[in-house]
Amino acid sequence: MRKPYIAGNWKMNLDRKSGLALAQALREGVGDRTDHDMAVIPPYVYVPEIVRALEGSPIRVGAQDVCDQVSGAYTGEVSAAMLKDVGCDLVVVGHSERRHVYGESDGLTNEKLHRALEAGLEVILCVGETLEERQAKETESVVRRQTSTGLAGVSEADMARVTLAYEPVWAIGTGLTATPEQAAEVHGYLRGLVSGVFHEEVAENTRIQYGGSVKPDNIRELMAVGDVDGALVGGASLKPDSFLPIFDHAG
Ligand code: 13P
Repeated sequence: MRKPYIAGNWKMNLDRKSGLALAQALREGVGDRTDHDMAVIPPYVYVPEIVRALEGSPIRVGAQDVCDQVSGAYTGEVSAAMLKDVGCDLVVVGHSERRHVYGESDGLTNEKLHRALEAGLEVILCVGETLEERQAKETESVVRRQTSTGLAGVSEADMARVTLAYEPVWAIGTGLTATPEQAAEVHGYLRGLVSGVFHEEVAENTRIQYGGSVKPDNIRELMAVGDVDGALVGGASLKPDSFLPIFDHAG
């Protein structure tokens, strides 16, 4: 049984005060509920303070990126060990904004994923096609390449710390959401891929989040899809009034 998993990617939004207020409101709203998992993913600079604000709460805290190197002369970068050191639980790798705005490759994404796992962090690996790729009927080949390269070299045991997120690029921040049928197709395909790379039991236990314009009014229909195990939420995760209902309606 895969527990619903709702994560809020704040991207480069909020400030210290509003981030702390949001964390506090989520803490109160979630209480000690553990029937669903929740994570918040603030910008790097706020991670330590949000970790402290959520201490003792079941809400987990993540980072939006991580360096592909262990340590050393990498100006501007933050290592997986540093994130672990300040109490961070997980990192996102391969987000479409990293891939498409900053040109990050599947290989780099795979290195980042390994550094995170080696440091004892959990990982959300994002995959998803652009509109042009969907129109060219390349959705499966794109998510296959992103998933198989992204997961290269990961052990079966480490897959327990990996969540996949299917985020069609055309649905991110656009108000366009994949229909439940579109999500079902790709999520089912991804589960089959994980089964092929590892085996069926790993695939059955791997959670696959959907991301792209998730809102309180579409979460139920998305979660009704058997292979959708949660959501990676951007804009609607910035306010307790929209993020808490998404969490509530996820199961
Ligand atoms: P939106 O929910 O704002 O479309 O963002 C989705 C996303 O990219 C989450 O990582």
